[in-house]
Amino acid sequence: MAAAFGGAAASRLLSPAAATKSTVSLSSASPPPSLKCLRSTPLLSHLFLRQKRSTVHASSARNYSTAASPKCFASDSDQLKSAREDIKELLKTTFCHPILVRLGWHDAGTYNKNIEEWPQRGGANGSLRFEVEQKHAANAGLVNALKLLQPIKEKYSGVTYADLFQLASATAVEDAGGPKLPMKYGRVDVSGSEQCPEEGRLPDAGPPSPASHLRDVFYRMGLDDKEIVALSGAHTLGRSRPERSGWGKPETKYTKDGPGAPGGQSWTVQWLKFDNSYFKDIKAKRDEDLLVLPTDAAIFEDPSFKVYAEKYAEDQEAFFKDYAEAHAKLSNLGAKFDPPEGFSLDDGPAKAAPEKFVAAKYSTGKVVARELSDAMKQKIRAEYEGFGGSPDKPLQSNYFLNIMIVVAVLALLTSLVMN
Ligand code: HEM
Repeated sequence: MAAAFGGAAASRLLSPAAATKSTVSLSSASPPPSLKCLRSTPLLSHLFLRQKRSTVHASSARNYSTAASPKCFASDSDQLKSAREDIKELLKTTFCHPILVRLGWHDAGTYNKNIEEWPQRGGANGSLRFEVEQKHAANAGLVNALKLLQPIKEKYSGVTYADLFQLASATAVEDAGGPKLPMKYGRVDVSGSEQCPEEGRLPDAGPPSPASHLRDVFYRMGLDDKEIVALSGAHTLGRSRPERSGWGKPETKYTKDGPGAPGGQSWTVQWLKFDNSYFKDIKAKRDEDLLVLPTDAAIFEDPSFKVYAEKYAEDQEAFFKDYAEAHAKLSNLGAKFDPPEGFSLDDGPAKAAPEKFVAAKYSTGKVVARELSDAMKQKIRAEYEGFGGSPDKPLQSNYFLNIMIVVAVLALLTSLVMN
């Protein structure tokens, strides 16, 4: 295997046996839809589907529960949340942010808006887990990203590959200091390698006419000039390696010591920090050690792209805003969602909004009485009865209480007069 980013980390995480198992299951088909709900139940998945979990994560394998999920969707939202925590741990130990972002983009970026049928239209459908697609020239090295994620996939059998790839990418961007991404989940996986898109749908880095090539490819995905430039800003992360894509230097002063597997050529100095330095550095033509692919250069040369590139170099907030929208849109391309509207991990599957508090509703005694629970009514009754009263009678009709008050007042007056 090539000395790929994350490769060393992957082999640290996986024993040789586990690595072999992963390679096999990376290209295995999804269980039929009828088993989807069983699959998301840990015990049943073990008994019926014989999915062994990685020992690396075995200690926390009981952390999740599917009980809270109202329905069985393509992915289980509780398991997605737990998987997100595991991805954060993985990022902490391997610094694999860039390759996870590239993985998510390459799964989604095969989308063709001119094809209506799923999965023929390509896009974020998990097809990149199959070897045949990993072998496409544009995907060189991405097998390492898949190996890093495979133990997480095995632990959370109720999470689809398509969701896991996009979750990993979004988590990496956010963890590297990028904007919060308005992601949704529930992507259905393709079931077999025959459903992979044909080679050649992703962009080349050095075509004869870079700007028009970028438009050909990204317009086919339904994305526009602003989105092309914003998304190119993801190259603020990571490195290019000659042994993979053929682009970049074998190493530079910024990459020779890692982190992760050393080497490659980065676009920015701090290539694990998500900010707008990609635009700043290309504009300033800062350093021979920083990479500028022909397609990167095009965004400062083409008049329409340049407007956005200049803006993002000046204004990181504007870049973050446009990037967040474009990334989320990219992550949804071609995806078939179940439920059809998808769901967010931040507020769970579409819940009815809580009833708004309207003060006027509480302004009459009648409504308040209706709002009281039976337990509260019991408590109030007991308190009244404690001093001989009753909540059912007006105060003046509680004779015993009135007599007590008169006696107390008389006693007070007597003591005043005596003094
Ligand atoms: C605009 C057209 C694009 C071209 C021609 C292009 C090309 C490339 C190339 C040649 C590499 C080096 C791969 C290697 O040698 O390992 C690379 C890496 C990368 N690309 Fe792109 N890319 C494009 C768009 C994008 C987009 C839209 C994203 C994400 C939204 C993205 C994210 C990345 C990341 C994060 C890396 C670094 C991967 C690593 O360090 O392992 N790229 N890209």
